[in-house]
Amino acid sequence: MRIALVGFMGTGKSSVGRLLARRLGLKFLDTDLLIEKKEGRSIPEIFAEEGEEYFRRVESEVLEEIINSDDSFVLATGGGIVISAKNRRLLKDRTFPVLLTASPETIYRRTSGGGRPLLNLTKPEKRINELLKKREVYYREFKNRVDTEGKTLLEVTGEILAMIGVDKDAGD
Ligand code: S3P
Repeated sequence: MRIALVGFMGTGKSSVGRLLARRLGLKFLDTDLLIEKKEGRSIPEIFAEEGEEYFRRVESEVLEEIINSDDSFVLATGGGIVISAKNRRLLKDRTFPVLLTASPETIYRRTSGGGRPLLNLTKPEKRINELLKKREVYYREFKNRVDTEGKTLLEVTGEILAMIGVDKDAGD
């Protein structure tokens, strides 16, 4: 089984992914963590030292490596992975992708801790709206969706388990 969580920054992909992986007894992978490991530096450092284009190249390489492994996994992807048509194809053809969504206000609140170079501005609200608008067309290609608005991690995870036909209370 290969589940990939896609969606904008702050929609809970990593937190939900960890819980889901634990629930399913699967390995948890996170493209951002794998990029940092491969590069030996943090995402903000990669953006500052090499720029976004370089980051996107490494992100696509990392995704391809994950997809070409024969492992089962729950994968949390970076919010911008969907910009690439090739990445979208790989995710749709070779995993069971689930799109997580949230309102711009919730995204703003959840990302206010920093660590996201694209939102490293004094007023990130405008950038969040611009990026959401720009990426809407890509996110729209993913038909399995869970709106995370006002829901706990357990509730979101439960909805994904139901989607893939796993009884969320089994094994308790
Ligand atoms: C990005 C999202 C981030 C990270 C990078 C760029 C984006 O991941 O990959 O800062 O372009 O939306 P998260 O979605 O996990 O925050």
